[in-house]
Amino acid sequence: MGLYPYADRYPVVRAFPEQGRPREQILAEIEAMATEEDSPYHEGRISGSIYSGDEAHYAFLNEVYGHYSHANVLQRDMYPSATRFEGEIITMTADMLHAPEAIGVVTSGGTESLMNPLLVYREWGRERGIDRPNVVMPTTAHPALLKGAHYFGIEVRRAAVTDRYVADMASVRSLCDANTVALVGSAGTYPHGLVDPIEELSALALELGTNLHVDGCLGGFVLAWGEALGYPVPVFDFRLPGVTSISADTHKYGFGLKGSSVLLYRTAELRRLQYFIVPDWPGGLYTSPGMSGSRSGGIIAAAWAAMVSLGREGYMAIAADIFRTAAALRAAIEAVPELEVLGDPFFNVAFTTTAASGLDIFLVNDALSTRRWRLNGLQMPPAVHFCVTRPNTQPGVVERFAADLAEAVAHAKANVGTPASSGAFYAGGMTSEQISAGMAWWLDATQALPPA
Ligand SMILES: Cc1ncc(COP(=O)(O)O)c(C=O)c1O
Repeated sequence: MGLYPYADRYPVVRAFPEQGRPREQILAEIEAMATEEDSPYHEGRISGSIYSGDEAHYAFLNEVYGHYSHANVLQRDMYPSATRFEGEIITMTADMLHAPEAIGVVTSGGTESLMNPLLVYREWGRERGIDRPNVVMPTTAHPALLKGAHYFGIEVRRAAVTDRYVADMASVRSLCDANTVALVGSAGTYPHGLVDPIEELSALALELGTNLHVDGCLGGFVLAWGEALGYPVPVFDFRLPGVTSISADTHKYGFGLKGSSVLLYRTAELRRLQYFIVPDWPGGLYTSPGMSGSRSGGIIAAAWAAMVSLGREGYMAIAADIFRTAAALRAAIEAVPELEVLGDPFFNVAFTTTAASGLDIFLVNDALSTRRWRLNGLQMPPAVHFCVTRPNTQPGVVERFAADLAEAVAHAKANVGTPASSGAFYAGGMTSEQISAGMAWWLDATQALPPA
């Protein structure tokens, strides 16, 4: 399928329409597209992306959202409920991550929750006379950190990972110097879903007198329940004294709507460095806690509603299903002699073909794609991951996957030497043709519209 499959079905809007269209007609079009696009996740064949997938939960959140979708969080006097929601979201997340006294902000998503602490640590360094700051993180850390460092003029030093795909502490240590304003570890990593040695990173941060951000954007809201559920998830939160900030996305395993995340700091002094204030502007005293200006009250209300409607019990029940499903998937993959799982995952299972098999993992993925599975392609090494979310925990999903996986490996064996059509493209289960089409839009700066 192309990335713009609608040209034959609906008129392509090529200029600002003179007259408006009837709402019913627009709604019918939207409903048709959304229903079709959502249909694959209901079968439980999608990795990541759709975290709750509970229609009733989404309907409830959309109702909450509707009450505040037009409200701007900046207008706190008009909408004091936003202050309530934001404060309580932060408090609940701090409680979950064992820091009742931690303080934070609600951001627009994982990327913002990773960029803000970089800014804070750069400013922290400036206060100490560090004008050429660097941050040290393993190669598996999320690219939003590289983006933030690029924006803020911070050098990134990328440490090696071990043969279990987590930060190699010797490499991390060797890259640190007096200009290191922060270390970063993930819980868990996007590529392989693994928890870096946060306890050791915490000890190193304390030893060096620097900061440590834990990227729990993806895993925070699911790994947090692992310990109580009896899984050997290493401690990654504020119980470790060197951890100075943690990000955890309410719009992923927090089961909120898209566009929200929580960023917590151990101290108010650190959060203060994130604030931006212009006292002498004709528009009035300008104060802003983060990167966004206006923010939708609806998104914050929905994140709050997700948390208080599920409660600890609700999150634990879903997490238990996710951990169980991921363990079953891992066992199914490990039962295939030509495949191996990377590291020791709890919720996001990455795997590749063994060196001895000589098979191309992307040929395996091609065959899975034709059976409607949408896994995420990885590189260095080539691999794929299946990030387990609630829709994947339905009965029968793992069994169907195991059966299709056996056929997919047979396909890879029968096609050795043939180029695969899937590849490693972040967040996408795209074919090479779709990747080329997508890149062409960016590179040619077209409007992504089909030719007239
Ligand atoms: C570990 C990790 N950090 C950060 C992000 C970025 O989050 P967002 O896409 O919400 O900006 C992701 C996204 O998947 C992630 O997996």
